[in-house]
Amino acid sequence: MKILVVGGGGREHALCWAISKSPLCDALYCAPGNPGIAQVAQCIDVKAEDLDGIEATVLETGIDFVVVGPEAPLVAGLADRLSAKGIKVFGPSADASRLEGSKAFTKGFLARHGIPTGAYQTFTDAAAAKDYVKAHGAPIVVKADGLAAGKGVVVASSQQEALDAIDMMITDGAFGEAGAKLVIEEMLDGEEASFFALIDGEKALPLIAAQDHKRAFDGDEGPNTGGMGAYSPTPIVDQAMTDRIMAEIVDPTVAGMQAEGMPFKGVLFVGLMIHPEKGPKVIEYNVRFGDPECQVLVMRLQSDLLPALLATADGTLDTVDLAWRDEAALSVIMATKGYPGRYDKGSVIRGADQATDDAAQVFHAGTSIDQDGALIATGGRVLAVTACSATLSKAQEAAYTRIAEIDWPGGFYRKDIGWRALG
Ligand code: AMP
Ligand code: GLY
Repeated sequence: MKILVVGGGGREHALCWAISKSPLCDALYCAPGNPGIAQVAQCIDVKAEDLDGIEATVLETGIDFVVVGPEAPLVAGLADRLSAKGIKVFGPSADASRLEGSKAFTKGFLARHGIPTGAYQTFTDAAAAKDYVKAHGAPIVVKADGLAAGKGVVVASSQQEALDAIDMMITDGAFGEAGAKLVIEEMLDGEEASFFALIDGEKALPLIAAQDHKRAFDGDEGPNTGGMGAYSPTPIVDQAMTDRIMAEIVDPTVAGMQAEGMPFKGVLFVGLMIHPEKGPKVIEYNVRFGDPECQVLVMRLQSDLLPALLATADGTLDTVDLAWRDEAALSVIMATKGYPGRYDKGSVIRGADQATDDAAQVFHAGTSIDQDGALIATGGRVLAVTACSATLSKAQEAAYTRIAEIDWPGGFYRKDIGWRALG
């Protein structure tokens, strides 16, 4: 079978790494990929958002199965286009992708189906939004409705911060159309976790939960990022909590999407806030794997990933039984200095691909090869150094041991990934 993975980040490297090991995979392509992905797949120079280019590549190359990594092409309708051409695809339709593409749609959906989430209201008028903030006070959360490259959420600790966020999004149009509508939401308290389930339209199969570290610096300080590291398992999502999340959140979501005529096919990433008394509540949905959560997920997965992705697309998830390693995995992001703000491109990275043993995998994200053949950083998040071992502390040690072999003066990383679980 010929497979194309769409995307070029650490998540897609992890997906390619797992898929390339499958006996069902005869040829693996990735668009656009990156130098790490090129070690396991043939990279094709087409951007993930270039829907025409992806479709042409699929047809020209005779691809049998497309696995879509990032949300943007899904929200733009890539799965619909490929399905219409008879190509099998892992990833939801544009309609179903509104679970990530529109926060207002998602909040309405959660309310319609009685799925636990924070109280909220939506606004298109700045004055009305400000009145709501003044009536409710801080802390309060202001969110742009649409995709805003992970920057559309302001968790405001003061009323003024919330009012400023409303001005930035509606009055100044900082996110364009994506910020023309706002969701203003109650601040939830508890501990955050990322939960993943495959859904084939009718049935959901739980994967595992992971915990991400969103802040840039040690001790969960500094600005929000796309994620600076992740680990799994997470103590707050035990079997009982998994059962609750499936019963109270995932299963009603599957049924609700079906009932509303847009069955969800793909992976549902449930961003959760878990409180010891109030239980699990949905912060947000994503319609793709997390990055770097995917990196820890594939390293903990013992079964072949590819048949599970195919069954998701085929509607036969009831035939799939996944086995997980009774081990822990931990991923540390190495990012360019300055990220998530402004940063320079082109700094040279040495030692990323010369592992002294197999204890850790170095998944590439924003990397490239320069004219001299050197590996250089071309993005914010650049490498995801991921290890799997008997215990979380051993996985942490293996990941940081591997990082010590990487010589990259232009980069930085958090030294405390896993701290909540390790104490
Ligand atoms: P999002 O872009 O929706 O993932 O939001 C970014 C981050 O903002 C989340 O990971 C949470 O840490 C935080 N956040 C979003 N909504 C809430 C909420 N209602 N209560 C508390 N924190 C939130
Ligand atoms: N790590 C969070 C995300 O992928 O959105």
